[in-house]
Amino acid sequence: MSQKISLTRYLVEQQRADGLIPSQLRLLLEVVARACKSISQAVNKGALGGVLGAAESENVQGEIQKKLDIIANEVLIEANEWGGHLAAMASEEMDSIYVVPNRYPQGEYLLLFDPLDGSSNIDVNVSIGTIFSVLKKPEPATGEPQQDVSEQDFLQAGSQQVAAGYCVYGPQTTLVLTVGNGVAMFTLDREQGSFVLTQENVRIPEDTKEFAINMSNMRHWDTPVKRYIDECLEGKDGPRGKDFNMRWIASMVADVHRILTRGGVFLYPWDKREPEKPGKLRLMYEANPMSWLVEQAGGAATNGKERILDIPPTKLHQRVSVILGSKNEVERATGYHSAL
Ligand code: AHG
Ligand code: MN
Ligand code: MN
Ligand code: MN
Repeated sequence: MSQKISLTRYLVEQQRADGLIPSQLRLLLEVVARACKSISQAVNKGALGGVLGAAESENVQGEIQKKLDIIANEVLIEANEWGGHLAAMASEEMDSIYVVPNRYPQGEYLLLFDPLDGSSNIDVNVSIGTIFSVLKKPEPATGEPQQDVSEQDFLQAGSQQVAAGYCVYGPQTTLVLTVGNGVAMFTLDREQGSFVLTQENVRIPEDTKEFAINMSNMRHWDTPVKRYIDECLEGKDGPRGKDFNMRWIASMVADVHRILTRGGVFLYPWDKREPEKPGKLRLMYEANPMSWLVEQAGGAATNGKERILDIPPTKLHQRVSVILGSKNEVERATGYHSAL
C-alpha cells in the first residue's frame, strides 16, 4: 500500500528540496490547515451546530454577514494570532487589519483570507470554502528602524505572494496549496484528522468546453464579455466550432476547484449595476490567491486587460474583474477586450 504523505511531510520535503518554505512559513501553513479543519467541522454540523442563517451584522463589503462568516473569521484569528509567525491579518470580514496583540511575538508574514467563500450557499448545503494568501511583511528601508505593521504593508501585488490556497468544504474537505512549486491537493482523512496528499503537480488543460459565469447578469455586461459568451452559446454552428457546457456554483472555491480538476473558464466581469466597481470579487483575498494557484497549474488569470497578479493594489478591499482558467480560453476572452 502506497504510504500516505501528510501535509506536514509534504511541506518538510518541499523545504528540504528547494528551500522555498522557511520553517516559519511551514508552521504558519500548518496552523491555517488546522483552522480549516475546525471550520470544516463547524460547517458539517450545519443546523445541528446552530451555525446556519444570518447574523445581525453587515461587513465592510456591505453584505449581511452569515453566522459562519463570523465563526470562520474568529477561528482563523484565534488559531493564528499566538504562533509568532505573523505580524498581522486581513479578512473580508474585518474593516481594517488585525495586528497581532503585544502579548504575542510578531512574525515576518502577513495572512489574508476570505474566511467563508460562497456564503449564499451555506444555508442550502452547497460547497463553500476558505481562501488564504500569505505575503511577507516588507523590510524597512536600509538604516530605517522597524515600523509597526500597517495596512500599507498589505498592499503588495499578487506576484509577491509566498503561499496561496483554499480549503473547499464539499463532499470531501480538500486543501489546495501552492508555495510557488506547482499545486498540490490534500484530502482530509477524518479518521486520522489529517490532510493527506491526494494530487500534486495539478495541470489545467489549456482548452475547454466549459464556461462559468452568472448568466442572469448578461444584460449588464460590457460588449467583449457579451460577444465571448454569445460565441460559446452558438456552439459548433458558430465561430467556436464546438459546443460548450455551463456551470455556475456561486462559490468561487468550488468553481475554481472544478477548473483545477478538469479545466474550464471562470468569469466575474465588470457590469453596469455598480459601474464605479471593476467587479464583485476582491483582489487581495479572492482573485490574487486563486490567480496564483491557476497560473501555477498552467492556467491564466486576467482582469480583461492585464494579468491579475501584476495589479498594484491601492485599497485592502478593492475589487477586480476576473477571467481565469484554461490558458487558451482566458487569452481569447481577454483578447476581445483589447479588440474594442
Ligand atoms: P463571499 O461569499 O466570500 O462573499 O464570495 C462570494 C463570491 C464568490 O464566491 C462567487 O463566485 C460569487 O460571489 C458569486 O456571486 P453571485 O452570487 O453574484 O453569482
Ligand atoms: Mn468570497
Ligand atoms: Mn466570504
Ligand atoms: Mn461575503
